[in-house]
Amino acid sequence: MILYLFRILSETTLPFRVLPADLEGLHRSTWSDWTVEPLLRHGALLFEGFGLSSPEDFEQLALALDPKLYDQYRGTAPRNARTRYVYSSTELPAHLPIPQHLEMSFLPGTPRKLFFYCQTPPDLHGETPIVDFRSVYQQLSSEVRDAFEQKGIRHIRNYNPPGKKLEWDLSKLKSWDKVYGTTDPVEVCKKCRSEGQLFEMRKDRSLKLVNEGPAVREHPVSGQKVWFNHAQVFHPEGPVREAEYIARRQGTVRQRGLSVFLRNFHRLTSLFLPDEARGTQVTFGDGSPIPVRFIRHLQAVIWQNMVFFTWKKGDVLMVDNFAVAHGRMPFWGRREILVAWTD
Ligand SMILES: [Fe+2]
Repeated sequence: MILYLFRILSETTLPFRVLPADLEGLHRSTWSDWTVEPLLRHGALLFEGFGLSSPEDFEQLALALDPKLYDQYRGTAPRNARTRYVYSSTELPAHLPIPQHLEMSFLPGTPRKLFFYCQTPPDLHGETPIVDFRSVYQQLSSEVRDAFEQKGIRHIRNYNPPGKKLEWDLSKLKSWDKVYGTTDPVEVCKKCRSEGQLFEMRKDRSLKLVNEGPAVREHPVSGQKVWFNHAQVFHPEGPVREAEYIARRQGTVRQRGLSVFLRNFHRLTSLFLPDEARGTQVTFGDGSPIPVRFIRHLQAVIWQNMVFFTWKKGDVLMVDNFAVAHGRMPFWGRREILVAWTD
């Protein structure tokens, strides 16, 4: 315990590693309280060596660390349920990157905490990089920060109707029946109204969802300012630029090829695909466009702060979703990372 106190007071590390010995002598019912201080300070805790081997084991540990797990998902990633609270982190193909984001930051009910669990470590690459978005806010240029803080942000998602297959836009990852669990458009409209979600069900049965709000928020406990939006995830420049960073880091023919393809595909689709038709779109809160150079600056700051760690089977990463963002690197071979989240 003394060693633990020394570590927590002397280090700010991301992620902060927690071993079974750190919890020795503590009753399981107090583990949740124990996490409060280190999670607030570091933003992410990596639980190693707890002997987990199944989604059920993971669910039990996550419930011990926070009993308020939640089982509804309204986000953009394609996911499958494994237990009541445990989902696959994403079903996105292995070669595609997922840029850094705070989970569902654009929704009114943004989850407070996330838990990731490594069932099968990636054969090659496939890290879950994390970034402290409190630091990102501090390091952005005042020009970018002021623009976002003054104008706020508008996130727009366009979902295809159930069953539509052919799609030019790679950001259209799923249809609205996968978000709302029904193929009935009337039911979807009812759910949107009851959740206070701005929406438009179009004549062709495609669904537009709009979320507006501040681009920067204060952490609910510490009050620190946090970069709190999906700007570089939803902007068409974001994934293209992300692929270029990853091609440089991984250096493989596949990722270099993907990077070149995405850049040219984006140029081509820009000629005939209006921004409004893309799967995701983002503007300032007043509807004015976000300059491409702002997105590039933001991504440069994010990449300067990105932390990579190596998954081992059974590891659990607990993340303060109001402080630390996560993403996914493309990978080769097997990789099974599961996720759970609180309300
Ligand atoms: Fe995510």
